[in-house]
Amino acid sequence: MSAPEFNLEKLATEYEDRSPVAIIKMALENFNNIAISFSGAEDVILIDIASKINPDINVFSLDTGRLHAETYRFIEQVREHYGIKIEALSPDAESIQKLVKEKGLYSFYKDGHKECCGIRKVIPLRRKLMNLDAWITGQRKDQSPDTRNAVPVIERDAAFSTSEKELIKFNPLSNWTSTDIWEYIRNNDVPFNALHQQGFISIGCEPCTRAVLPNQHEREGRWWWEEATQKECGLHEGNLKK
Ligand code: ADX
Ligand code: SF4
Repeated sequence: MSAPEFNLEKLATEYEDRSPVAIIKMALENFNNIAISFSGAEDVILIDIASKINPDINVFSLDTGRLHAETYRFIEQVREHYGIKIEALSPDAESIQKLVKEKGLYSFYKDGHKECCGIRKVIPLRRKLMNLDAWITGQRKDQSPDTRNAVPVIERDAAFSTSEKELIKFNPLSNWTSTDIWEYIRNNDVPFNALHQQGFISIGCEPCTRAVLPNQHEREGRWWWEEATQKECGLHEGNLKK
């Protein structure tokens, strides 16, 4: 449950231009049952900020089974560095086995990423979010001009709220650019995923992520065989309707 004085509209306006630190502080003051959704990339900043406010911060990662070895190593490094627990959410074994048996391990190259992302990311996420009042993500406007240019710093989660339960979504990094992110990482000695040293900017699952060339947008390294306006895996489905 949120604090009784939590007023989404008012706070969304008030915090529109505030710093990630201020937004995360406000989020943690208003919600006890809240968690950070950590992808194993530069969203580590969320953990750096939140763990300084609350060392017992809840963090989960969607372990799709298809992440890079570097990302698994990095998640472990973050766990040790910050002395926090990180919950790894696994997909339903039967659903994955059925998909792989029928369509193989790389069906997404042929018929799109929705089915695999649905099983490996969205269903486990929905299961988790059902038991939370709010979550914190590392989404940013500059990550995707096609789908994220209007991401608010606080919103009612359009994809995962239900008629019984409203879910609040915080996107504290929304207004930060990649430059701001990397300045923070360097200035605060924040650990980072080794893939960033190999030309990766945006990092997702191994078969669906590749390094980008100079001057390519970071989103071009994700699901590169698909239409740019559809590049949302379902975690942030609300972005597609904007
Ligand atoms: S995605 O929807 O295209 O995969 P992206 O990689 O840009 O998302 O990450 C944006 C935010 O979504 C991350 O900062 C994180 O909050 C959440 N997210 C993405 N992938 C994962 C994951 N595997 N586990 C947990 N959270 C994730
Ligand atoms: Fe499957 Fe690729 Fe989606 Fe990962 S990003 S869940 S491998 S389609």
